[in-house]
Amino acid sequence: MAIHGGASWLAAVSLSLLALALQGAAAETLVPAMFVFGDSTVDVGNNNFLERCNVSCKANYPHFGVDYIDQAPTGRFSNGYNLADQLAQLLGFAESPPPLLSLSNATSLISRMSTGISFAHVVSMAEQVRNFTNLARLWASGNDNRSSAADLLSQSLFFISTGSNDLFEYADIGPQNNDTELLQGLVASYAAYLKDLYSAGAKRFSVVSTSLVGCCPSQLAIAHDPSNPKGIDKYGCFAALNNLSGQLYPMFDAMLQGLSQELPGMNYSLVNSIKMAEWVFESPATPTYNFTVLDIACCGGGQFGADGCNSSAPLCPNRSNHLFWDDYHTTEAASRIAASMIFSDPTGLFVHPINVHQLVGGGAAATVDNTI
Ligand SMILES: *[C@@H]1O[C@H](CO)[C@@H](O)[C@H](O)[C@H]1NC(C)=O
Ligand SMILES: *[C@@H]1O[C@H](CO)[C@@H](O)[C@H](O)[C@H]1NC(C)=O
Ligand SMILES: *[C@@H]1O[C@H](CO)[C@@H](O)[C@H](O)[C@H]1NC(C)=O
Ligand SMILES: *[C@@H]1O[C@H](CO)[C@@H](O)[C@H](O)[C@H]1NC(C)=O
Ligand SMILES: *[C@@H]1O[C@H](CO)[C@@H](O)[C@H](O)[C@H]1NC(C)=O
Ligand SMILES: *[C@@H]1O[C@H](CO)[C@@H](O)[C@H](O)[C@H]1NC(C)=O
Ligand SMILES: *[C@@H]1O[C@H](CO)[C@@H](O)[C@H](O)[C@H]1NC(C)=O
Ligand SMILES: *[C@@H]1O[C@H](CO)[C@@H](O)[C@H](O)[C@H]1NC(C)=O
Ligand SMILES: *[C@@H]1O[C@H](CO)[C@@H](O)[C@H](O)[C@H]1NC(C)=O
Ligand SMILES: *[C@@H]1O[C@H](CO)[C@@H](O)[C@H](O)[C@H]1NC(C)=O
Repeated sequence: MAIHGGASWLAAVSLSLLALALQGAAAETLVPAMFVFGDSTVDVGNNNFLERCNVSCKANYPHFGVDYIDQAPTGRFSNGYNLADQLAQLLGFAESPPPLLSLSNATSLISRMSTGISFAHVVSMAEQVRNFTNLARLWASGNDNRSSAADLLSQSLFFISTGSNDLFEYADIGPQNNDTELLQGLVASYAAYLKDLYSAGAKRFSVVSTSLVGCCPSQLAIAHDPSNPKGIDKYGCFAALNNLSGQLYPMFDAMLQGLSQELPGMNYSLVNSIKMAEWVFESPATPTYNFTVLDIACCGGGQFGADGCNSSAPLCPNRSNHLFWDDYHTTEAASRIAASMIFSDPTGLFVHPINVHQLVGGGAAATVDNTI
């Protein structure tokens, strides 16, 4: 209970989030464009176009998308909208910007630069960032008014959610590693990507830290494997992995603070995904959400539902009460809570030093007082 100030605080935050979610449905967008980078948690279909990616890293078949428009499997690793979609919606867009690889020619690519593109998928951040900087250069050179292109980029939101896969891979290798070395390497490359984006014109960054990744069903199955059990933390999750993620957060924080002092006009909002996950674990039921299943994937068979989602896998009837959609990814219901926090957390506990609403010039988020 140390994480928040008790039930009334919780109810008030929930109400203000609801109000802001409704307000987010207005037609006007708060930024000209949104650019998305990162892993499968925010991919909206770039993976569909990757030949080297087989069924295990695709999501373009049922039951994926069972709650999306027309129940369409789009390549989102979700039952419906993912975190990028839901943050985009709070900014006034219909959903996430489209996947880079769905934009088949230079004309459609360039015209999309003014409203945003998603670069997110399983391949490296280095490649995603390179794709963006190349495109930004091409776009500016083709634009009659270069300062308006620069203006547009500087006002746009750069949303980045990455790092989990690096932790999964590392934890896979075993305990003989040097954590500090891994984490310092991760943070150094992250800083380099942010600088590259900044040099290409980006100014406003929303950065999502790694969460309690040891609590997703795939890792629960690993940690609780009777033939090779691992250390368990107070949430019943893979302790070593959550510990790594916990070490990473303050390093991200320090790196971003440093960059914002070094790079004029750079502004950021850092999401503490660990605090958010802890909040949900400690308060799974509130007036706005009620997660009754925190450890089993909605789609998937086997222990913890961790055997992977596909059309013949078991599907839970109620996606709103499950925290996890599949072996690695949260449900639409869970990412909706996260998106609301990222956008408008009024407390500073979950996003720091400002929330995305403030980052994009929307001023302080609606206060608890005027939304009750
Ligand atoms: C998919 O890729 C994984 C990892 O690269 C490999 O182990 C598996 O055999 C592949 N499956 C198919 C059906 O190609
Ligand atoms: C470019 O792609 C868009 C949609 O992806 C399509 O409508 C348009 O006809 C294409 N243009 C050319 C020149 O191929
Ligand atoms: C993205 O980058 C990769 C690797 O550098 C390149 O092969 C690909 O053509 C790029 N895609 C676009 C649309 O720029
Ligand atoms: C170019 O764009 C800037 C910023 O949007 C604007 O202030 C300026 O008037 C534009 N210049 C021309 C020639 O349209
Ligand atoms: C781990 O790596 C860090 C950074 O490279 C180094 O300073 C430290 O001595 C290493 N620790 C061990 C136990 O090797
Ligand atoms: C990670 O584990 C080490 C060793 O048990 C401990 O000293 C440290 O406080 C833990 N860090 C976090 C962030 O949980
Ligand atoms: C960052 O955003 C805050 C809140 O909108 C604003 O007060 C501050 O001036 C911004 N900093 C920079 C460097 O733009
Ligand atoms: C949450 O759902 C469970 C099961 O449907 C129900 O028993 C419980 O009363 C609900 N709690 C709240 C706060 O709505
Ligand atoms: C479908 O999912 C089930 C349960 O997760 C799994 O056992 C099965 O192997 C999967 N089927 C295919 C073809 O991958
Ligand atoms: C589904 O779960 C949500 C959240 O726990 C709950 O409010 C709702 O009543 C459930 N729906 C059904 C049909 O059980």
